[in-house]
Amino acid sequence: MTIQTLTIIKPDDWHLHLRDGDALSAVIGDTARQFARAVVMPNLKPPVTTVRLALEYQARIELAMKKAGISPDAFTPLMTLYLTDNTSPAEIIHAKETGAIVGVKLYPAGATTNSDAGATDLLGKCSQVLEAMQRVGMPLLVHGEVTDPNVDVFDREALFIDRVMIPLRKAFPELRVVFEHLTTKEGVDYVRDAQGPVAATITAQHLLYNRNAIFQGGVRPHWYCLPILKREVHRVALIEAATSDSPRFFLGTDSAPHAKGLKEHACGCAGCYTALHAMELYATAFDQIGKMDRLEAFASKRGPDFYGLPRNTTTVTLLRTPYLVPQEIPYGDQTLVPLAAGETLNWKLS
Ligand code: NCD
Ligand code: ZN
Repeated sequence: MTIQTLTIIKPDDWHLHLRDGDALSAVIGDTARQFARAVVMPNLKPPVTTVRLALEYQARIELAMKKAGISPDAFTPLMTLYLTDNTSPAEIIHAKETGAIVGVKLYPAGATTNSDAGATDLLGKCSQVLEAMQRVGMPLLVHGEVTDPNVDVFDREALFIDRVMIPLRKAFPELRVVFEHLTTKEGVDYVRDAQGPVAATITAQHLLYNRNAIFQGGVRPHWYCLPILKREVHRVALIEAATSDSPRFFLGTDSAPHAKGLKEHACGCAGCYTALHAMELYATAFDQIGKMDRLEAFASKRGPDFYGLPRNTTTVTLLRTPYLVPQEIPYGDQTLVPLAAGETLNWKLS
């Protein structure tokens, strides 16, 4: 018999872009409805590079929540710092002491949206910071793509493993590392088999689609994100990992809102908006291979376990019922097009 409803521990989103100002106010309600906690990415303009900036950003998120009528008990933003060549070990120790900052994000300079200030020489200029992070147990959250313009965009993650991940983890074997938004079979194999404290987040779009989705009937900018969607063999490896027994793979939407006009553009921004319907999308992906019973571990258990945080105590229920994804939703004075807009998914969060 096919499952009609599924009740699971309330999930968390271990990789999220909330933006700031009006954009933050527009999207915060979507995430708070779906998730109890989210790891909030620091790639604002200017980036969140210090403890002071992170705590100020946290206060703006809490104010937006208050204005939207979201209780502080219902949703907790988990803050991150943006690693630069100038981040100091003292800043890491201070970040750890706050209890509010759960990770430090590596954006290789130039890899993606607002990454210009990112680290240029990880094992050189950042080695003392990495040593401090390893010592105090502060995870490094990695955008795992090389930025060498001579490397094909579809190969950038696989090459990152050899050029950065392996040397990094050899130099700092006890450093907790999250390979964010994993997109390749090479990435899955590496994370599954590596020694030591390494894990990965996986987005809904990389579980549901391969790169054909970007070009189906024409260029479809709402399927463009970084790392870019890959071949089917990679999608299959990712869904197998997400539904496997490995504790190392967990949910991170990478929901990355950009106004409709900046997506449908001659040089469109990278990022899929999935906060609105994240659990509906993940449920659809798990259900497609008959693995709904694995959703709770992926969405609600392995993330907190890796981060050393308690699992949530409330629950949510998913219903097998048609859900029409809206064409667009308000975004300040503009609009936002959610992923798979106009399509019908088979699951709905009740
Ligand atoms: C993200 C964004 O827009 O901030 N875009 C994306 O395609 N994922 C940046 C990122 O996480 O790479
Ligand atoms: Zn991201």
